[in-house]
Amino acid sequence: MEVRQKVVDDLESARRRSLDLLDPLDDDGLRRQHSPLMSPLVWDLAHIGNYEELWLLRAVAGAAPIDEALDDIYDAFRHPRPNRPALPLLGPAEARRYLAEVRGRALDTLERVDLDAGAPLLAGGFVYGMVVQHEHQHDETMLATLQLMGGTGYRPLAPAPPAGSPVTGDVLVPAGPFVMGTDDEAWAYDNERPAHLVDLPGFRIDAAPVTNGAYAGFVADGGYDEPRWWTADGWAWREKAGLVAPEFWRAEGGGRWSRLRFGWHEDLPLDEPVQHVCWYEADAYARWAGKRLPTEAEWEKAASWSPAGVKHRWPWGDGGPTAERANLGGTHFRPAPVGAYPAGASAYGCHQMVGDVWEWTASDFEPYPGFVTFPYREYSEVFFGSGYKVLRGGSWAASPLAVRTTFRNWDYPIRRQIFAGFRCARDA
Ligand code: AVJ
Ligand code: FE
Repeated sequence: MEVRQKVVDDLESARRRSLDLLDPLDDDGLRRQHSPLMSPLVWDLAHIGNYEELWLLRAVAGAAPIDEALDDIYDAFRHPRPNRPALPLLGPAEARRYLAEVRGRALDTLERVDLDAGAPLLAGGFVYGMVVQHEHQHDETMLATLQLMGGTGYRPLAPAPPAGSPVTGDVLVPAGPFVMGTDDEAWAYDNERPAHLVDLPGFRIDAAPVTNGAYAGFVADGGYDEPRWWTADGWAWREKAGLVAPEFWRAEGGGRWSRLRFGWHEDLPLDEPVQHVCWYEADAYARWAGKRLPTEAEWEKAASWSPAGVKHRWPWGDGGPTAERANLGGTHFRPAPVGAYPAGASAYGCHQMVGDVWEWTASDFEPYPGFVTFPYREYSEVFFGSGYKVLRGGSWAASPLAVRTTFRNWDYPIRRQIFAGFRCARDA
């Protein structure tokens, strides 16, 4: 499809998703801060519009600001999340009007702009892809807010994911070099570049993410009471925060658990990937299991490389995600059981590398050799070396447009509100 038409379609579907997500909320639900960890939803909403204005109107077309005050209010670096409720935010109706105005002008500009004139920002529609991905990333963030809101406030009705099938054990990824990162993925971020060879020793990696059932075994075995499974920092955090199980789990007696999922308490599905664990919990589980977390290089090789020495865009090959291949895009509002996507397995036999849950890796968020900031320092560069851990693969809430096997996400090792789980690895 022509790049321009794809951009229009992708902008429109991202916007439909954002508005649909927030549609069930009243004004108070949109303005209130549901958790100090998150923004008021109406901040995210107008921030999506402000980001689009900054890039698609001001950077692309040299347009004058619509309202200069907005740049400050919606600058994530100037105002940390706990402080955002006190800002003079646009109200829900004003925010929606602002988004519509920016979008109208952005589409006008897109008709006139020459994407092939050699400007790096426009090549392959990059800046439009950046704005589309940004909106989807905030949709996922808003879903985390809606999950924290709990209660009966949000009860998405969504089709059930496909049924699971047994996937156990690990697979061998033999020693050898592979290509990490990308040079030719048009919408890849600066932190995914450049492509470079990484030579890895052989390793084994779990064929599926760790399930709720397996994780409950760690809890039942006293895993949260045994400092030996935890790093020193992890143990200190587990004590300070009083961690006893993944966030949103509730003990029901007799070793049974329920979990809160948006507005529901439901039996904990034992065959689904565990989510809402922090890096410290994932790391402790892996040690208890006699394993370790994979490095991000190991993860990417297992997800994208093939024994024939070819790098693929997706675990299953080069065709795009479908409902048979991966749980993405927020369709199901939950992870699918392990084994639900045999058609989505990687060449080495790893299931559900993309979709379902973000997967914590052992790696710190650092630049690749030859990294060049593009197009702005605050997307990636300012986060390097600040204690963030890398997550890979995307969750059920991530858009297929904002995930690929080279995509790198990052967060602090204490974070649990994101839709993150993990799989384990070990030396071969
Ligand atoms: C890449 C998901 C860590 O949400 O903080 C959103 C993406 N950058 N707005 C984030 C992002 C600017 C970022 N993550
Ligand atoms: Fe943002």
